[in-house]
Amino acid sequence: MRNWLFDNFQSAARSHGFEEYDAPLLEHEELYTRKQGEEITQQLYGFEDKGGRRVSLRPEMTPSLARMVMARAGALPTPIKWFSIPQCWRYERTQRGRGREHYQWNVDVWGAEGIEADAELISVLATFFRSVGLGPEDLVIRVSSRKVLEEVLGSVGVSGEAFPAVCVIVDKMGKIPEEAMSAQLAEQGLDADAISTIRSTLGLQDLDALSSALGDDSPAVSELTSLFSLIDSYGISDWVAFDASVVRGLAYYTGPVFEAHDRAGELRAIVGGGRYDRLLSTLGGRDMPATGFGFGDMVIMELLVSKGLVPELSSGNQDLVVSSDESLRPAAMSVAQRLRASGRTVDLVLEDKRMKWVFRHAERSGAQRLVMVMPEEWGAGNVRIKDLESGEETDISFDDL
Ligand code: HAM
Repeated sequence: MRNWLFDNFQSAARSHGFEEYDAPLLEHEELYTRKQGEEITQQLYGFEDKGGRRVSLRPEMTPSLARMVMARAGALPTPIKWFSIPQCWRYERTQRGRGREHYQWNVDVWGAEGIEADAELISVLATFFRSVGLGPEDLVIRVSSRKVLEEVLGSVGVSGEAFPAVCVIVDKMGKIPEEAMSAQLAEQGLDADAISTIRSTLGLQDLDALSSALGDDSPAVSELTSLFSLIDSYGISDWVAFDASVVRGLAYYTGPVFEAHDRAGELRAIVGGGRYDRLLSTLGGRDMPATGFGFGDMVIMELLVSKGLVPELSSGNQDLVVSSDESLRPAAMSVAQRLRASGRTVDLVLEDKRMKWVFRHAERSGAQRLVMVMPEEWGAGNVRIKDLESGEETDISFDDL
């Protein structure tokens, strides 16, 4: 099942010209210890290794990717379009759609400044959703930009320095009590007026309303307007909606941000991502524009199961070879070998089993044919093949297999 899902992840990324990369599961812990109060930094599987170093299993792929890109900056032709399906670990409360261990499809573009790259990512998502049978009636990709909040905060006199921490807090809106959130925002220097401006801005759900709130010359509005126009060129507008409440809970985002949710609103976020143009300087490097998303394997499976879209998968064996007794087992092995060499997928009954078991096993594994090695037939150089669908039996010589 996982292979089926991953095949679809890979095909969608490859169809858009992305190449696959990998990274180590274990990293220096400091790669993840950002100081803006993100949940993810409190969920590290961190420990000391035998050399006394603080290390951690990766909770996400982005810092590893950033570290790798930084090490090769200049040598790699840009844009770098890479994808990966890493296993990630977060010590979080397990619940529907959230585990301590999950696989997360990551698709990122480095070295492309324009929102064309962000639009391309949305297209990868729509391509994937279509490939597994989901449609715009099943889910929506909600898009906003960190610049919306940046402009709003700028207008109420909040300095840019506290900005990432404020975003992390604002992302919790609706998830933690209002008083707790106001208290956390007050700690960042926001007064009641600023908080109420944030609240009303986050309630905006169409670009016209955003434009009235921020003004026609707002960079956030023009960025989002261009992004939606590109999304329209891909013919995928049905999948996407502007929603100012999308902020994302990671500190490093700087531009467009997006999340996909099931239309029924029953599940957690299916995928989340956005632009993070200033991550490298926080790791001691020179900044390079970047945008991408992380897409877990758990919520999507919940959605696919609930929509009846998970295909029936069998083990894919074509033939099951069985000998009537132990003395003919070496012959059965030669038969299996010959069939495998011709490209068929073949299972072999390794021990003495009753025919009832053999038939049940054939059915369970989805085999199309039962290949029987029996004394009389084998004596004449033949095996008996039973077509399991039609029930028809034929004898075929070993040489003709
Ligand atoms: P994130 O929002 O923390 O972003 O996670 C992205 C996605 O990974 C989530 O929407 C969800 O599908 C899945 N996910 C996260 N945690 C869990 C969990 N405990 N169990 C199951 N699934 C989970 C990031 O990680 C960013 N690094 C994504 C990114 C890549 N942004 C740019 N490039």
